[in-house]
Amino acid sequence: MAGYLVDDARKVTTHRLFEMKQSGKKIAMLTSYDYSMAQIVDGAGVDVILVGDSASNTMAGNVTTLPITIDQMIYHARSVVRGVKRALVVCDMPFGTYQVDAQDAVRNAVRIMQESGCDALKLEGGVEIIPAIKGILDAGIPVMGHLGLTPQSINKFGTYTVRAKDEAEANKLKSDALALADVGCFAIVLEKIPAKLAQEVTDSVNIPIIGIGAGGACDGQVLVIHDMLGMNKGFSPKFLRRYANLYDIMTDSIGQYVTDVKNKDFPNSEEQY
Ligand code: KIV
Repeated sequence: MAGYLVDDARKVTTHRLFEMKQSGKKIAMLTSYDYSMAQIVDGAGVDVILVGDSASNTMAGNVTTLPITIDQMIYHARSVVRGVKRALVVCDMPFGTYQVDAQDAVRNAVRIMQESGCDALKLEGGVEIIPAIKGILDAGIPVMGHLGLTPQSINKFGTYTVRAKDEAEANKLKSDALALADVGCFAIVLEKIPAKLAQEVTDSVNIPIIGIGAGGACDGQVLVIHDMLGMNKGFSPKFLRRYANLYDIMTDSIGQYVTDVKNKDFPNSEEQY
């Protein structure tokens, strides 16, 4: 099943994302964490599905992304892969699986690829993780970078506010982006940074830049599926566009089911054997 905006039903590859940047075609990316959601997201024409470590928040109810384990990420990624025909499936390397040293990072990266069947991995950080990224790339695994607000470092930042507003942090982000592109990352996510800075980075590297709260000049956009479908009431940052209000739709539907069961209206004579 191809999505209504998809003119090419072939499997998305990192090379095709590069071609999309070259030809000015925007890249649509969303998260998914399970088979059923991934089937819908893929069928609707999303180019890249991220099995984000935001699963720690959306699926497990943790406050941060730090507690999710490599086994849990593999479970989510394997479930997503089973539901996807066209999109490129990228899995986040969870906190602690690539920061120790490059060898440990490669071992964990290989394990995620082998056990989940995903297409690529995403790591948060700049020059400090280049040795890990290089090792993973040398093992033949495509890597997506992630700069700006990097939620695995929330305890260092102490806040989820916009990053790289001052010159020093903006300069560091720009040189990090160049380093990630130079080492061979196939794309970079920029999270919650000023739109002007994201535009500068997008113009300065030849790999796709995918923004979340980083303005419209990026080569593509990513959102967390639960946020854009309105499944959690409490989260409404400025950058988020809600395309549905599933929280209310689901609550109403489930409430109606409860009423029907209690009133002996469900099942009726047509709904039984
Ligand atoms: O884990 C995640 O969902 C992410 C996106 C916010 C980019 O990293």
